[in-house]
Amino acid sequence: MSKVHLNRRQFLGGLAAAPLIAVSATATYATLIAPHNYEVTETDIFIGDLPERFEGFRITQLTDVHHSRIVGLTEVQRVVDLANRTKPDLMVLTGDYTTTYRRFIDPCAEVLGGLTASEGVWAVLGNHDHYTDPELTTRALVRNHIPVLNNANTRIRRGPDAIQLAGIDDWSWNGTDWVRAFYGLDRKVPLVLLSHQPTVLDFDEAQAASLILSGHTHGGQIKLPFIGAPARFATMDLKYASGLFRKGQTQLYVSRGTGVIGLPVRFGVRPEIAVLRLRRG
Ligand SMILES: [Fe+2]
Repeated sequence: MSKVHLNRRQFLGGLAAAPLIAVSATATYATLIAPHNYEVTETDIFIGDLPERFEGFRITQLTDVHHSRIVGLTEVQRVVDLANRTKPDLMVLTGDYTTTYRRFIDPCAEVLGGLTASEGVWAVLGNHDHYTDPELTTRALVRNHIPVLNNANTRIRRGPDAIQLAGIDDWSWNGTDWVRAFYGLDRKVPLVLLSHQPTVLDFDEAQAASLILSGHTHGGQIKLPFIGAPARFATMDLKYASGLFRKGQTQLYVSRGTGVIGLPVRFGVRPEIAVLRLRRG
């Protein structure tokens, strides 16, 4: 076996290059791999008064798709395929389908139209859908068989049993109308609330919900060791950044979402397709 001998200059040159190689490898990972390294998570949500026929009922949540110049349709299609593979009873979309430009709305909604679930696919709008065009976004989703619960609710039935599903318009655009969203609800029947922004957990009205499903934070999008999310890419309020929270009888699940904004970068925060399994007890 032949040996390679380095002289002192070559050795020191190699040492000097090491940090550069590490930085460029990290940058390559953060831009080319991490934003598309989707994780399908499955979380049990225990609800005291869940009707018997809804034991094990599975909800797949997609959020913050952000179809844009930096999140292509191929990625949106991958997300749709992964979500369909979870074979949920219900699919919910919690906003931010695009980021800024109207031209991305129709193609994104068409691909999302490929989502399937036995109890249907339901949506709410996010803050970026208000920047882009809320009416156009709503029409495009509805045209692709995705009803938008914009301060509205519906009921999912299994024989004589039911759960309720409500959606609230994005809080930061003053569109939130709790009275309309909860009109006609039965306080004795469990309620799942879709709200793009997780901050609604702190509102008294939200305590009527057994479970709130939110996105918006992207989990911080970038999380550095020991520092956390310094840039706060997704939001100024990362109080409920990702995962499961509880206030009284109300639980909140915040998904890290699948897309990116600002820079085409994720680091330390994998994109997520969340599956919530409802359990009695
Ligand atoms: Fe977002």
